[in-house]
Amino acid sequence: MARNVAAAIEHVTVCQRQSYCLRFAAPKLRERIKSMSTLLPPEHAKAIAAFDQVQRTRLVFGNGSAANAGELIAELGLKRILLVTDPGLIRAGHVAKLCAVLETAGLEVVLFDSVIENPTTECVERCRRIAEESKVDSFLGLGGGSSMDTAKGANFLLTNGGRMQDYWGVGKAQKEMLPLIVIPTTAGTGSECQSFALISDAETHQKMACGDPKAAARIAILDPELTLSQPRNVTACTGIDAIAHAVETAVTNKKNELSWMFSKEAFGLLMPHFPTVLNHPDDLNARGSMLLGAAMAGCAIEASMLGAAHSTANPLTAHYDIVHGQAVGMMMPHVVRFNAEDCEAREAYAELAVIGKLIQSRTGDEPTEHLAKRLIQLLEMADMPVMLKASGVEESMLPTLAVEAAEQWTANFNPRVAGQAEMETIYRAAF
Ligand SMILES: [Fe+2]
Repeated sequence: MARNVAAAIEHVTVCQRQSYCLRFAAPKLRERIKSMSTLLPPEHAKAIAAFDQVQRTRLVFGNGSAANAGELIAELGLKRILLVTDPGLIRAGHVAKLCAVLETAGLEVVLFDSVIENPTTECVERCRRIAEESKVDSFLGLGGGSSMDTAKGANFLLTNGGRMQDYWGVGKAQKEMLPLIVIPTTAGTGSECQSFALISDAETHQKMACGDPKAAARIAILDPELTLSQPRNVTACTGIDAIAHAVETAVTNKKNELSWMFSKEAFGLLMPHFPTVLNHPDDLNARGSMLLGAAMAGCAIEASMLGAAHSTANPLTAHYDIVHGQAVGMMMPHVVRFNAEDCEAREAYAELAVIGKLIQSRTGDEPTEHLAKRLIQLLEMADMPVMLKASGVEESMLPTLAVEAAEQWTANFNPRVAGQAEMETIYRAAF
């Protein structure tokens, strides 16, 4: 195992042990800990509060680790699991292999293989119905963010009832949910480390972020070998998305010490290995770094949320069907330049530029520009359009896109206020 990967895993393990102590304290004690933290100096209060927000998913990482899925799941005492995936994963042979492993461990497997890209409320409802009819005791999401989010969404509905819209926001599930295990096959969304499911309203096309700590996976199995089957464009789009997660979480107004640690770790793993996975797709060490980096960026999102690059990307996907990673990638350099007016954001970007070895030191105004230019180069390396015009976006649509971008949930967390006017400025810079 590469040293950087081993160090990063150790980081997560330590953080999770700490958070475990706080989470499982008795309610009265938790209250006392909380009130004690109000007496602390602000920097200590901020630092300790971060630990109560870390997600509690067990990360199992390693080449071939998916072969241990049966034993890991059986350890939880589960008997009948709904495998949630898409037809591409069946064609790639991953589903058959995984089913064999699960059945050898004595698990009954029910299959839902109709996950669609950007899953809708309808898709989630279909999945819920299968889960209910087959009386499963757990969910297994295999695939990209869409499979994992569909499994999370169906789990919300099965255990807590109602419609997906009822869970838009944070902490709306009253009852316990079934155990969820996830096995990502792309290195991108970081959904494996988040308690959020991104589900589109089938009627309004609004993307709803539905989050609850109970929705987080019990176990995420990160097996780099499973990511070898991604086509180049999927590797590119998901990789750029993961890098954008590291950059956006580094500067939001929700950022804390722990999320910052994850953002830096993620950026350090992702940046040097992105060109490698594009040019040498069979390089398992680079694939491992991307997979782990994407998961770390997912950990960062859990506390820090995202910012204006995601706010401006979503309307591009809704109106022009531009793939999420490409949309975020085109917007990211311009959001970095926009946010660099904020002193703290500029500092954080400079530190990322050093971590990503884009510059030697973080002095002067240049670091931000180095970062913005590097983000543009990532698109070029992946043979993707850099500007909106080249992607078919019409100039006349920019005001409409700006209205919608300003209404996105993620806009609330951008370090600089980003309303309709600011969003239009960012779109024009990217046009
Ligand atoms: Fe994203």
